[in-house]
Amino acid sequence: RRMKKIAVLQGDYIGPEIMHAGLEVLKLASENTSFKYRIYNYPFGGEAIDRYGEPLPEETLKGCQDSDAILLSAIGGPRWDKKRVRPETGLLEIRKHLGLFANIRPTMINKVLAEKSPIKAEVLEGTDFVIVRELTSGIYFGKPRELDAKLAIDTSSYKAEEVERIMRVGFEMSRHRKKHVTVVDKANVLATSKLWRKVAEKISEEYSDIKIDYCYVDAAAMKIITQPNSFDVIVTANLFGDILSDEASVLTGSLGTIPSMSVGVRGPSLYEPIHGSAPDIAGEGIANPISMILSIEMMLRESFKEYEIANNIAQAVEKTIEKRFLTPDLGGVATTNQVVKEVIKNLKG
Ligand code: NAD
Ligand code: IPM
Ligand code: MN
Repeated sequence: RRMKKIAVLQGDYIGPEIMHAGLEVLKLASENTSFKYRIYNYPFGGEAIDRYGEPLPEETLKGCQDSDAILLSAIGGPRWDKKRVRPETGLLEIRKHLGLFANIRPTMINKVLAEKSPIKAEVLEGTDFVIVRELTSGIYFGKPRELDAKLAIDTSSYKAEEVERIMRVGFEMSRHRKKHVTVVDKANVLATSKLWRKVAEKISEEYSDIKIDYCYVDAAAMKIITQPNSFDVIVTANLFGDILSDEASVLTGSLGTIPSMSVGVRGPSLYEPIHGSAPDIAGEGIANPISMILSIEMMLRESFKEYEIANNIAQAVEKTIEKRFLTPDLGGVATTNQVVKEVIKNLKG
């Protein structure tokens, strides 16, 4: 089998800390298996702005396009907030250039983590849903976009075909889950949401085995907290998915536990935690590496079909949590390194 190329964008602030942690786990978990890979590091985000004046240099984009999968930790932070170009622009550009239109953000409750959640255990019971976030359109990319002292404009637009393909991702996922798709929108106000409902309704005819319902985003924000187990697959627009996924992470105890996968029509997928660069805790060695480790686990599963290695990592993380090797965001006292060491210790074989 061919050596797999993994493009690594280690990013800013806690980015390099959790990437290092994740790659350490990947290395040990892949040892003595037939899975062979090589890491290619590329400058990205704030680091790339400092070195090259732009967040997504040509070399980085090309390296990502030529890879089998891309790992990204997190970019951005106060160091660049007042600069002309922002690291976040690079993130939007890479998603757009690679056509990564579907972003999958899981919310699964682990028993120990449930204790760390501010939400009551009985409310969390049975919670297992994914947010399918549209990632390359909507208000993030619509034109015109303008900003001057007296007026600012953002444009939210969706083409029917863009809605159709993200709806299909949601339905297909649901097929292997609880067969229930919830479209989250603001169809009582927004034209784009009205189009979403129309398209969703049409596509749902092809998936008669799957239940579809609709929920306004304001009510959905409430229901994610009060009835989180009433969801299976949430399909939603770019901005709504961004906000609701950070909210949903609270159910699992911490934002620092949630991985994600971004998929396009073709080409490599990108795996990244849903959180940002956590400048408030960077350099202290206490960032939760679980989001990054689970992003790598997702990569092994989805891009490389290396289910054994992925399962091994998943169970090792599970055990580490059970033994309460937890970073401060989960109420523990463990450092990033201690968590990683424990995960590695819990790997089988
Ligand atoms: P953030 O997600 O970085 O942090 C929010 C809070 O969660 C902070 O208190 C942080 O300490 C905590 N947190 C996040 N990840 C953690 C982890 N792994 N372990 C422990 N605690 C963790 O959001 P923010 O502070 O609003 O944004 C910081 C920067 O990150 C901004 O520049 C933002 O644009 C950027 N950002 C980047 C990405 C990305 O690269 N995909 C995503 C979101 C935000
Ligand atoms: C995320 C982030 C990004 C987004 C920002 C940093 C551009 O919040 O990946 O969730 O809004 O998509
Ligand atoms: Mn976000």
